Amino acid sequence: MNNITFAIIKPDAVNNNFTGKIYNHILKSGFKVLSAKLIKMSKHQAQNFYLIHNDKPFYNELTDFMSSGKCMVLALKKDNAVNEWRKTIGATNPDDAREGTIRKLYANSLAENAVHGSDSSENAKKEIGFFFSEIELI
Ligand code: CMP
Repeated sequence: MNNITFAIIKPDAVNNNFTGKIYNHILKSGFKVLSAKLIKMSKHQAQNFYLIHNDKPFYNELTDFMSSGKCMVLALKKDNAVNEWRKTIGATNPDDAREGTIRKLYANSLAENAVHGSDSSENAKKEIGFFFSEIELI
C-alpha cells in the first residue's frame, strides 16, 4: 500500500478560497483522487486526529485551528504516494518550502500551513480510515 496517501486542505486555505487551486495542483502533479470531501472537525475530533502530537507545546493551538473551519480531506493515489505528496507540498514551515510547492504558494505560517500530508504509508492508512469508510474509496 505504498501508493496511497492522505491529505488535508486546511481551514486557512479553504477560507482563502485556495481549495480549487490546490485540487488542481494535486491533479497536475499526477495524483488520482480516490475520495474527497468537505468536513468540519470538532475540537475533540482534531485532538484525536493529532493525538501523536499531544505532548507538543503547539497541540492546543493546532487542534483549535484545525477545528476552526472547513477542511477538505482527500485520499490520494500515486506510485510512492507518501514521498511524492510530501515533495509536492514542501517543508512544514512555508519559509523553508521550495518554490512551486503548495505550501510556498498558499501557506502563511508554520501553524497555518495550508495542507497536511501523512508521514508514512502506515499512518496514511490510519488517517484515511479516520475520515473515510470503505465505500467512499473509489
Ligand atoms: P501537519 O503536517 O498538519 O502536522 C502537524 C502540524 O503541526 C504541522 O503540519 C503544523 O501545521 C503544526 N506545527 C508544527 N510545528 C508547529 C509549531 N512549532 N507551532 C505551531 N504549529 C506547528
